Amino acid sequence: MVSSPSVLVVGAGPAGLVSALLLAKNAITVRIIDKDESFHVGSRGFGVQPRTFELFEVLGINDELQKLATPIPTMRAYKLPGGTIPVKTWDLYEKGDVWPDRPYANGACLGQDLLEGVLRNHLAKYGVAVEVGKGLTALRQNDNSVIASITTFVDGNATAEVETATFEYLIGSDGARGSTRKLLNLTFEGETRDADGMVWGDVQIKGLTSDYWHIWGKPGEFTIMARPLSPEGDKFGIGITGLNFDPTELGDPAKAVEFIRNETGRADLEFGEWTWLSYFKPNMRMVNKFQEGRTFVVGDSAHVHSPTGGQGMNCSVQDAFNLVWKLAWVLKQGKPSLLATYHEERLPVITQMLHATTKLYTHTVVQEKPSEPTQAQNASESGWFKWRNSALEMYGINYRFSSIVLDERSIRPKDTEDMLAHAYSGYEGRGSLCAGDRAPDAPRLTTSNSETTLYKLLKPDAHTILVFGGAGISQLSAVGSTNFQAFVVRSPGEDTSSNGFEELVDGDGWAHRAYMAKPDDRLFVVIRPDTYIGALFTEGKGLTRYLAKLGL
Ligand SMILES: Cc1cc2nc3c(=O)[nH]c(=O)nc-3n(C[C@H](O)[C@H](O)[C@H](O)COP(=O)(O)OP(=O)(O)OC[C@H]3O[C@@H](n4cnc5c(N)ncnc54)[C@H](O)[C@@H]3O)c2cc1C
Ligand SMILES: *[C@@H]1O[C@H](CO)[C@@H](O)[C@H](O)[C@H]1NC(C)=O
Ligand SMILES: *[C@@H]1O[C@H](CO)[C@@H](O)[C@H](O)[C@H]1NC(C)=O
Ligand SMILES: *[C@@H]1O[C@H](CO)[C@@H](O)[C@H](O)[C@H]1NC(C)=O
Ligand SMILES: *[C@@H]1O[C@H](CO)[C@@H](O)[C@H](O)[C@H]1NC(C)=O
Ligand SMILES: *[C@@H]1O[C@H](CO)[C@@H](O)[C@H](O)[C@H]1NC(C)=O
Repeated sequence: MVSSPSVLVVGAGPAGLVSALLLAKNAITVRIIDKDESFHVGSRGFGVQPRTFELFEVLGINDELQKLATPIPTMRAYKLPGGTIPVKTWDLYEKGDVWPDRPYANGACLGQDLLEGVLRNHLAKYGVAVEVGKGLTALRQNDNSVIASITTFVDGNATAEVETATFEYLIGSDGARGSTRKLLNLTFEGETRDADGMVWGDVQIKGLTSDYWHIWGKPGEFTIMARPLSPEGDKFGIGITGLNFDPTELGDPAKAVEFIRNETGRADLEFGEWTWLSYFKPNMRMVNKFQEGRTFVVGDSAHVHSPTGGQGMNCSVQDAFNLVWKLAWVLKQGKPSLLATYHEERLPVITQMLHATTKLYTHTVVQEKPSEPTQAQNASESGWFKWRNSALEMYGINYRFSSIVLDERSIRPKDTEDMLAHAYSGYEGRGSLCAGDRAPDAPRLTTSNSETTLYKLLKPDAHTILVFGGAGISQLSAVGSTNFQAFVVRSPGEDTSSNGFEELVDGDGWAHRAYMAKPDDRLFVVIRPDTYIGALFTEGKGLTRYLAKLGL
């Protein structure tokens, strides 16, 4: 008898695909369905945050993605009318500020369609294929299982063919318009900018250089953007946005071309086929609960954002990382109460992120006043394009307030309200590192046979324990489980016994600095599979206390 998979993932966008791949890597059986009968086309959310690349590293797909990713193009705004004389050229992010603990400091562009293709290929290695044309249409839950109705869709319509299947858990990653959230009766509070609409699409354009991300704008009315999809080539991602501007008719390709030609003054541009064109209204909304019984919502089905500062896909990937290790842990060995910490940890982060992107939206799209004549020159200061906000880079996101982190180094402030208030923006510049923070990367670590970085060693199906100050690691031997890997980190000259655990030589001392480990002081750092610090303690018995928090 073939037993049914443990988890059903509903929706095969980035959130669902990352969830399914993480489950597969944790040896949890999974099925993933999507209502659409074909895979998505279109670059859609194309920007990838440096922090997201770190998670892709742990997922084992970063090398492949880096080959497909392209740098964020330099932006160039033109004078109107005419549309050909540049008035300003600038970079969205200052380039080159790569820090040792942040190796992917520059974001990059990667079409969502390409990302999804890579994720599907990796899933296939685990024998998991996305079942297309299958939508969730009903669900029931009891204490032991979720019973899902999976309906076959043809041409976007539900047919009478319905399969009823039972799972231990269900992950709803079916996007903003998905059915999981609705079937659970979760609220989706927030706002829709009714007066505003936006158009995004991918099209071939002849006569435009691919050296720049081109911008034409009319103050207080609209902005037209054309971003080259690759450094060479003639395909561009188009975006048309504005204040009190609702270009419904531009969802029609002929109208979109006419509008762009009219408003940029570039009648010379030749447009080829649109491979994707979509109209939508900015929404900023989130659920009241991320979990209901044995069902969870991740990604856009849990929260939608203004595209300004684009956190959508990036946040979806983080939701999946936060949830899946806990699910795998519970399915293998733990008490289900651990699962409640998905909601506990993500709610404050998402609430504050929505607040930040909504403010950014109000600031950038809405405040371009018609009376300001020099929008192009000032676009980098006031426009869409001022995204240089370290919070948006997501390094600060932390779970210091969480009930399952353990910090025995006692530099963590104890004020929970204060910690909750910093869930998203973090503690940048305060020189502290506490349990709940992002695990900093560390370059130039030497193993017995090669040089590597910390993130290349992290695994999505195991906690990683770093032991600074050597002796004492034998206290950890109780762990002996596949859910942990431990390394003794030592300075080049340091002489310590590592009791059979693998050693990492911290060549330039980056790991010691990043983890604030002083020479000779013993420090244990437990890094969770989602790359956050689960525990900091100074004696091996701390591990037992950490495991107790996880319900073991
Ligand atoms: C048309 C469009 C344009 C966008 N453009 C941009 C952009 O320009 N910039 C930007 O930053 N972000 C953009 N976004 C947002 C970005 O794509 C999302 O943040 C990201 O896709 C979220 O990933 P997700 O996996 O949560 O949801 P999605 O990618 O929306 O995936 C959800 C999947 O669930 C499937 N599904 C829905 N209902 C069911 C059901 N009942 N059963 C089974 N499957 C179901 C859908 O077919 C879909 O494949 C856009 C989104 C859309 C839809
Ligand atoms: C991810 O973050 C980058 C960098 O801020 C942004 O450009 C991009 O639009 C985001 N992606 C999504 C899908 O939100
Ligand atoms: C699907 O529904 C649409 C309208 O809702 C209809 O026009 C179309 O013919 C339907 N397709 C099929 C295959 O039934
Ligand atoms: C959601 O609400 C509907 C209508 O009120 C109800 O029939 C259904 O049982 C509710 N579902 C859940 C999961 O509470
Ligand atoms: C383009 O300009 C022409 C001439 O002014 C006008 O008739 C037409 O409606 C415009 N098209 C669009 C889509 O704005
Ligand atoms: C930019 O805007 C400021 C007002 O905010 C204005 O004083 C300045 O002249 C503008 N810059 C240019 C280059 O026009």
